[in-house]
Amino acid sequence: MTVEQKARALARFAEIIDKQMARVEAMASDVAFLDFDSLPTLIIGVCGGDGIGPAITHAARRVLAFLLDGEVREGTVCFKEIEGLTIENRATCGEAIPADVLAELKGCHVILKGPTTTPRAGDPWPNIESANVAMRKELDLFANVRPVKVPSQGIDWLFFRENTEGAYAVGNMGVDVDDDLAIDFTVATTGGADRIARLAFETARKMGRTRVTAVTKANVIKTTDGKFLRIAQRIAQEYPEISFDDWYIDIMTAKLVDEKRRRDFQVFVLPNLYGDILTDEAAEFQGGVGTAGSANIGKRYAMFEAIHGSAPRMVTEGREKYADPCSMLRAAVLLLSHTGRVDKAARLERALDRCMYEEKKYTITGRENGATCEQFADYVMEVLSE
Ligand code: IPM
Ligand code: MG
Repeated sequence: MTVEQKARALARFAEIIDKQMARVEAMASDVAFLDFDSLPTLIIGVCGGDGIGPAITHAARRVLAFLLDGEVREGTVCFKEIEGLTIENRATCGEAIPADVLAELKGCHVILKGPTTTPRAGDPWPNIESANVAMRKELDLFANVRPVKVPSQGIDWLFFRENTEGAYAVGNMGVDVDDDLAIDFTVATTGGADRIARLAFETARKMGRTRVTAVTKANVIKTTDGKFLRIAQRIAQEYPEISFDDWYIDIMTAKLVDEKRRRDFQVFVLPNLYGDILTDEAAEFQGGVGTAGSANIGKRYAMFEAIHGSAPRMVTEGREKYADPCSMLRAAVLLLSHTGRVDKAARLERALDRCMYEEKKYTITGRENGATCEQFADYVMEVLSE
């Protein structure tokens, strides 16, 4: 390693500290959550993304429009299509979210977003940052809320994945110090851990849940995970009626397959990367990532999406019209309830449970022998009309 290489690495670390300190300061200004009841018109941005994104987003948008038809006519809800979040356009602009697209997103209150392709080294695309990750950071969507339930097995989990920090915060700012040494950075802030833990406990209280479980690796990742856990423990004291426990990510990953123990878990709160991994595992019990939606919640904005990626292979094989829209339909449930439309959210959730788990008139297989996502959306609307 040369003196210059070391200086460059140190300069990068200084840059990271400055950027994260600015975030800490911005977080300290105590902004209240947007009050949806006070909005004359709720603006729902819709971006299809790429891969199977446009197909499944279109299906979910139709169902949402069906449920919100009256409000659209009255003018209390308005849909806004947002183009340009495709990998082609992002690659051309060389940006995770092109500036004009970001400006449009900021003109909405909530966003229904299809999966977007996340490049990695060796792909035909420039290795730009993930659009999901960038959107979560740009709009400060600090809580990634992911429900998973398997009623027949007594599973009813709600995950609160921290969404703006951890290994993801500066995942595109690591340093190749020289040919032999690469370093990435993980971030935890007091404010960041506090707000996700608080939201987890507050939601648990509102929903009458009696247990919150933190998942970290604080025995090894002592500084950042240590902080996350310490703060969760502190917040737990403010909720004496809720029991709190903490697990390490490795054993928690194992416990989720333990049929006797797993149904006892209720609400989880965990740093970004562990939340990413554990929620894919959890979704698998429910029927796979194609069935799981997620809410990305911030104080001013919220974005609703599938928990999975854009499945480009399905498009290459011409199968995108058979993609499972359930992840996006579940995201639509979360959008409705987050914006205060709880009755409609409950109706859609009930209809999805019927279509996915009870009647199963159409099944999605991802192939020609299954239903198309449009057929499935029609089926859901048929059930909703009953
Ligand atoms: C998710 C996805 C994203 C993530 C990818 C697509 C960047 O896996 O929403 O869980 O890692 O957060
Ligand atoms: Mg993931």
